Formats: sequence, C-alpha cells, structure tokens
Amino acid sequence: MEKAAQLYEGKAKKVFATADPNYVIVSYKDDATALDGLKKGSIAGKGAINNRMTNFLMQLLEKQGVPTHFVRELNDRETVVKKVSIVPLEVIVRNISAGHFAQRYGVKEGIVFAEPTVEFSYKNDDLHDPLLNDSHALALGLATKEEIAQIKAMALKVNETLKAYFASIGVKLVDFKLEFGRLSDGSLVLADEISPDTCRFWDAKTNEKLDKDRFRRDMGGVEDAYQEMMRRVLG
Ligand code: TMP
Ligand code: ASP
Repeated sequence: MEKAAQLYEGKAKKVFATADPNYVIVSYKDDATALDGLKKGSIAGKGAINNRMTNFLMQLLEKQGVPTHFVRELNDRETVVKKVSIVPLEVIVRNISAGHFAQRYGVKEGIVFAEPTVEFSYKNDDLHDPLLNDSHALALGLATKEEIAQIKAMALKVNETLKAYFASIGVKLVDFKLEFGRLSDGSLVLADEISPDTCRFWDAKTNEKLDKDRFRRDMGGVEDAYQEMMRRVLG
C-alpha cells in the first residue's frame, strides 16, 4: 500500500491517504513537544520506536478482545491503520500519582491507587486540552452516553492488559493516554499510539523514569530511556 496525499500533520505523526478510502498510513516523526507545545525538540530514533512499540501493543490488545485501528506495519516508521474519525477526548488512566494529577491535587508522585482512575480531557489545543467530566462531554456533543460508557470500559480493559504485560518486563505502568476513533459504521476502536510519549513507565526496581518525562523535565538520558523500553518490549 502506498502513501497518497498528506491529510494531516500533528506534533509527532503525519497521516497520509491511500488508494483505499478505508485505510490511511501513519508516519511517526522524531519530533517531540511538551508543555502544551512550548518546548520543542527531537528525540533520535523515537519515530521508529513508537511505531514498533505501538503496533506490538495494539496486537496484544486485539488478542485480548480490544478492537484497534491497527492493520499492518509497513516499515520502521510507517503503519497502515483503519481510517477513523477521532473522538475529541484524551482518555487518561492512572495507577500511580504523577504529573498533572500530583500537581492538580497537591500530592506527591508515587502514591499507588487502590483502583485505577479514568479522566477525560477535551482534545483542543486552542483551549489547552481542558479536563472535563462525562456530563460536559455529553453537553458538548463530543460523544454519546453509550460511547462514554464503552470508552471507559475499554480503557480499563486496556489498563488491565498493559499493566500485567509491563509488570512481566519489569516496568510499572504509572499512567497513560488513549484516543478512540469511530469507524464508518460508527463502532469504536482504540486509535493513536501507545508509547513512551503517551505513557509513564517506571522501572519496577529502581523507579527510574523510562519515558517522555525525561524530555519534559530536562533530565537527560532521553534516547537511552526510549531504547531501553524498546529493548524490553521487542527484545
Ligand atoms: P498528565 O499527568 O500530564 O495529565 O499525563 C498523564 C499521561 O498522559 C502521561 O502518561 C502522559 C500522557 N499525556 C499525553 O500522552 N499527551 C498529553 O498531551 C498529556 C498532557 C499527557
Ligand atoms: N501535549 C503535550 C504538548 O506537546 C505533549 C506532552 O506533554 O506529552 O504540548
């Protein structure tokens, strides 16, 4: 399958049309942004790592009964996925306090929750992705009641599957962000990516950060952290 016209360029990926209207090609970039786009940079090798890790995890989730947009990996950086219309919600699941949760509620990082939390942000860069609840999402017409219920159930299923998988490779899954899309028949599938850009990963023994927080917080060792996660996931 070959790339046709570019449909979209985001902060970390480009999307291309194909000859088949049901499929698009995603191309992962090394570009990285943080702090609402204020901080810009690049992480060498990130595009290929995020592409391959996402595809591995999407296939793992499919096996566990979670429908995804994944179709076929084309090469290091490019993957064919089902064309979806993205539900404009960032769906964030947390197992351990960190990041904005710790900031917003004035608690330290590292508190292990008895139950995972699920929260939504409105995917809107101009508004800086504000936090919103179910009734706000409904009032804004971002999703139906049924879709919201389904998205939460799918997000928790993803969490159970990924938490167990990452534990098996010595990694704590602290939190992560998912996006869902609607296929042409209206059914929901997991879309976007699952990578060190969109998850917090801490080494199970040392709590060393193995994700994009190293870039966000200028900690150094960014490339090494991505490589280490790649090594643990894909050998
Ligand atoms: P947060 O603590 O900053 O809300 O982030 C929670 C998780 O979501 C974390 O794993 C990083 C991920 N995330 C994204 O993928 N994109 C974003 O724009 C933000 C803010 C967070
Ligand atoms: N959405 C953030 C930005 O680019 C990225 C992040 O912090 O993960 O601005």
